[in-house]
Amino acid sequence: MVSTHPIGVQHAGSQYLPPRRNTSPNQELLPLTARVNSHGCLEIGGCDITTLVQQFGSPLYILDEETLRLACQQYRDACKQYYQGESQVLYASKAWNCLAVCAIVASEGLGIDVVSGGELYTALSAGVNPEKIYLHGNNKSRSELNLAIASGVTIVVDNWYELKTLVEIAQESAENSDPQSIPIMLRLTPGIECHTHEYIRTGHLDSKFGFDPNDLDEVFTFVSQQSALNCVGLHAHIGSQIFERQPHQDLAQVMVQWLQDAAKYGLNVTQLNVGGGLGIRYVESDDPPSIDEWVKAICEVVQAACIEANLPLPKLLCEPGRSLIATACVTAYTIGSTKVVPEIRTYVAVDGGMSDNPRPITYQSQYRAVVANKMSAPLTETVTIAGKHCESGDILIKNAQLPKTEPGDILVVMGTGAYNYSMASNYNRLSRPAAVVVANGEANLILQRETYQDLIRQDCLPERLKK
Ligand SMILES: Cc1ncc(COP(=O)(O)O)c(C=O)c1O
Repeated sequence: MVSTHPIGVQHAGSQYLPPRRNTSPNQELLPLTARVNSHGCLEIGGCDITTLVQQFGSPLYILDEETLRLACQQYRDACKQYYQGESQVLYASKAWNCLAVCAIVASEGLGIDVVSGGELYTALSAGVNPEKIYLHGNNKSRSELNLAIASGVTIVVDNWYELKTLVEIAQESAENSDPQSIPIMLRLTPGIECHTHEYIRTGHLDSKFGFDPNDLDEVFTFVSQQSALNCVGLHAHIGSQIFERQPHQDLAQVMVQWLQDAAKYGLNVTQLNVGGGLGIRYVESDDPPSIDEWVKAICEVVQAACIEANLPLPKLLCEPGRSLIATACVTAYTIGSTKVVPEIRTYVAVDGGMSDNPRPITYQSQYRAVVANKMSAPLTETVTIAGKHCESGDILIKNAQLPKTEPGDILVVMGTGAYNYSMASNYNRLSRPAAVVVANGEANLILQRETYQDLIRQDCLPERLKK
């Protein structure tokens, strides 16, 4: 018999339930393979979370391969279904950049957007085709630009300084009889506001990213005069964790207008990248559109605007991060101390916190959690989940509804695939956790847990300070 936990996880005795493929991962709280086994424990990808913690330690990032792959497929298939021109989905790897994640998304046919030499190096090392890699960043260094050029990736040019640096690099190469044709896109700031947290809003005019659209004539004129720069496309990104479709539809409309403008300068701009930003369901009240609905809304606007402007359909690119990977991952922690502040609150502390998930303290982000070894127990307690850092603000979840907990219980925080590992730090010299990918009852390590030796690996002790 199948019963349902309050957060919607499936319970099926010892039977393994196949993932619910008819759902959009970004609309779920837990990975799609989540189920409760006959011991009342949470399983993901056919692996019991409590066993994973015994095997790989705690805290532990657990990535469900099936959920990640399904999200990739849904983006890819929706683009094919709703867009009559060519399309390419890119994974915004700032959400979680590591070899295994790059390899999985690339094997689903996605390209990758990177924002630093380090992310680029990782994507290349994972074997991602450089023709499907796009380098972003508002202050790329010369060495990052050189690595991108040498590898043949497309550079998303953010500002005048970078544009001029690229021209200088091309001139230097030409002097060394190595003339370049550098593929670039131009990032423009569309001036569209989104109802999202201020610090992750990037599309408004007061943004550190992208060219001001008021400079468009000047930018297009300059680029059209540079034989070493091959401007293949235009890019914009309006923000993150967005639930409305209208801002992206407005963006698509504005971008087609820019395409028209570019043509007047003789630029053969054939690609439009509308960025990422689709939100996910972190808590029950979050109600994002599905991947399919989001892609459809954008495709319809681009197609209609191109028909109206009598323009050939550009190659359409989008670069989601969060909605591809956030729901696919959970973080398992071990519960330790509890502090009861009478008539105020009860703090339940875990063995991680703001170093493995800085989003609550940075953005006041909300999360949901379950106790993996007590999935069938009634939710009788309202507690605050505290991290172990020396920071009063190191609170992962306020007012979590949990069963009665005790030291050694395994707390699972959901939706931690995006901007958790990638923003993790060693604050208080905590080691960054390990990560495993789970599928069909098998778990494979994808990131090793840092050791104390790792923590001092880059330290240098000058001779005169040694005893
Ligand atoms: C340029 C760019 N593209 C894509 C993304 C991915 O956004 P999201 O993870 O919200 O899909 C971001 C994130 O802020 C970004 O800055």
